[in-house]
Amino acid sequence: MEKIIVCGGKPLHGTLRVQGSKNAALPILAACVLIRGVTVLENCPDLSDVRAAVAILRHLGCVAKREGHRLTVDSRCISCYTIPNELMREMRSSIVFLGSVLARTGNAVLCAPGGCEIGLRPIDLHLSALRALGAAIDDENGILRCHAKRLRGATVRLPIPSVGATENALLAAVTAKGDTLLCGAAREPEIDDLVLFLNACGARIARTGEGDLSVRGVQTLHGCRHRVIPDRIAALSVMAAVGAAGGNVLLENAAPAHLEAASQVLRRAGCRVEETGGSLTVAAEGRLRAVPSIETRPHPGFPTDGQAVLMAMLSTAKGKSRVTETIFENRFHHVDALRRMGANICLRGRCAIVEGVPTLYGAAVTARDLRAGAALIVAGLGAQGTTVIDGVRHIDRGYEKIEACFKTLGAQIERSADSGSEQPQSE
Ligand code: EPU
Repeated sequence: MEKIIVCGGKPLHGTLRVQGSKNAALPILAACVLIRGVTVLENCPDLSDVRAAVAILRHLGCVAKREGHRLTVDSRCISCYTIPNELMREMRSSIVFLGSVLARTGNAVLCAPGGCEIGLRPIDLHLSALRALGAAIDDENGILRCHAKRLRGATVRLPIPSVGATENALLAAVTAKGDTLLCGAAREPEIDDLVLFLNACGARIARTGEGDLSVRGVQTLHGCRHRVIPDRIAALSVMAAVGAAGGNVLLENAAPAHLEAASQVLRRAGCRVEETGGSLTVAAEGRLRAVPSIETRPHPGFPTDGQAVLMAMLSTAKGKSRVTETIFENRFHHVDALRRMGANICLRGRCAIVEGVPTLYGAAVTARDLRAGAALIVAGLGAQGTTVIDGVRHIDRGYEKIEACFKTLGAQIERSADSGSEQPQSE
């Protein structure tokens, strides 16, 4: 199995262009099912989760072709409404195909999705939103059979601003008969990118309040050309690495407005974070200071996807930080590995108390989910000695050639050759 090997302690310097956003690209790919035409996505990251979405599109009858970061999807001929279990279980975002397949074909047959094991991650809100829009959904031994001759607009209230349920409801509503009001919708930048994409394809969606989206149903959607937004979590991961290892990095194509809460936390820890147009400069020198209290929150709060890399950075900050995870109930997979590297972290339910130590030490550790894996790289870059990270396939779900990015910034980091037991997925 592949491993990532990091020799830490070298400050990071240079310029890096931030990859396209995984969590924006995935629902847009699901939205392609609605389109009777050709879509061209620019800045589409080349990741295993994106390859899994493309495999679903091809299974449904689309023709997809990648040239660098441009992905072209021809979805004129959708011939199928069943998604096999092995494709569903590749990632969490496969569930967002439910809304678009149902809206396009009148049927959908699929099972519960896979994805990082960071909590229970039920899909009840997805299903209740689709039912409110007129879908009949039966669960037969874990297989969901969904039917709606034509979905119809309705008022849909989400009790929590679930990102995936918002996406599913939007995909189902855009071509429904009549108007939909989606109340309590998520406000993440990835939702805004989906709305921008759908409107460019002929949808009529407007944000009518902070968490409210109104949708006027249209008959059909046409193809368009769309540029996927920058990945705010990939950017934040590099920012945290600069905090941990020191240095000065210019992040191009970073969409600073999406990173405001995160930039504020890094500044409180002693990093210099400056915006210039669409770029961000992050610099750090010497030991950072602890940040007394941070809670993950839906956007515009501090993102749960950045909690692990932040904790890796704070492991060596002077003083006591308290990090509370309010979104997922099991998102501290990185803590044991950070402790193996010398971190002093105490878990109390959803709260982690991080007593900063002067330095971390390289160790052999395993990435147990995507962001936990990124956190171990951040920790390894700041640590003394060599860190060997197993479970790289989790990291590859969301980061494009992560070792090459950090190498550009002067880090000593390599990917060990694959001994052949993990088969790379092909697009
Ligand atoms: N929830 C329910 N019922 C539902 C849906 C969600 O109880 O039907 C709960 C979840 O269990 C969780 C909370 O609501 O406690 C928020 O979940 P949400 O639905 O917002 O998350 P998601 O759509 O499954 C997306 C991202 C995650 C990111 C979260 C929160 C994608 C593909 N995934 O997941 O990204 O953490 O929103 O921002 O967009 C990652 O990239 O590492 C990642 C996990």
